[in-house]
Amino acid sequence: MPPQTSTPRYTVPGLSTKDGGRMIDVLRMRLHALNDLALTLKHIHWNVTGPHFIAVHEMLDPQTLAVRDMADGTAERISALGGVPHGTAGVLVSERTWEDYSVGRADAIAHLGALDLVYTGIIEDHRKAAAKAASLDPVTEDLLIEHLRSLEQFQWFVRAHLENSAGVLATTDARSEKQAAAAAGTSRTIPAKQTASPRRTAKKSAVTKRGK
Ligand SMILES: [Fe+2]
Repeated sequence: MPPQTSTPRYTVPGLSTKDGGRMIDVLRMRLHALNDLALTLKHIHWNVTGPHFIAVHEMLDPQTLAVRDMADGTAERISALGGVPHGTAGVLVSERTWEDYSVGRADAIAHLGALDLVYTGIIEDHRKAAAKAASLDPVTEDLLIEHLRSLEQFQWFVRAHLENSAGVLATTDARSEKQAAAAAGTSRTIPAKQTASPRRTAKKSAVTKRGK
């Protein structure tokens, strides 16, 4: 569930506490998305299989480090704005509005198909957050644009594996990570969790895309 509106006691010079609170609320969900992405990238790093194992395994570590740095910068911006960054797994899971990454041990191309959708979700919502920041706080906007430059490059690294010589992406019509993994042309995949928790399935069954 998204958090309540923040109202800091102070914020950065030149910004009202009301607008500082708006930026804190925007960044709070971006922090959750980035922390979740960093965990997901490591999950894929550990569970990737097949002939492309080493290429994908090694490609994901620099992405993980960069995304952890983005989360750190986001959390510190929340603090500078007078807010409280929440970095624990419990708060992340209780406030996020997307499902856990759904692919377990699987072929490299299957994971890349699913990861393409993960990047699409986080990039779309980072762009929306940057647009909100544009009218209130150019410093926060600049931070998010800096993230987007790297996130969009990382998605290109992923998509280059999924694109044919005509420039068509295998995942174009996929609407879920499972569909994207299958469309990427794979063999066997194992779900991240064989049986979803009934509570979480009921709570978030309508949400198929992460990053919101
Ligand atoms: Fe490793």
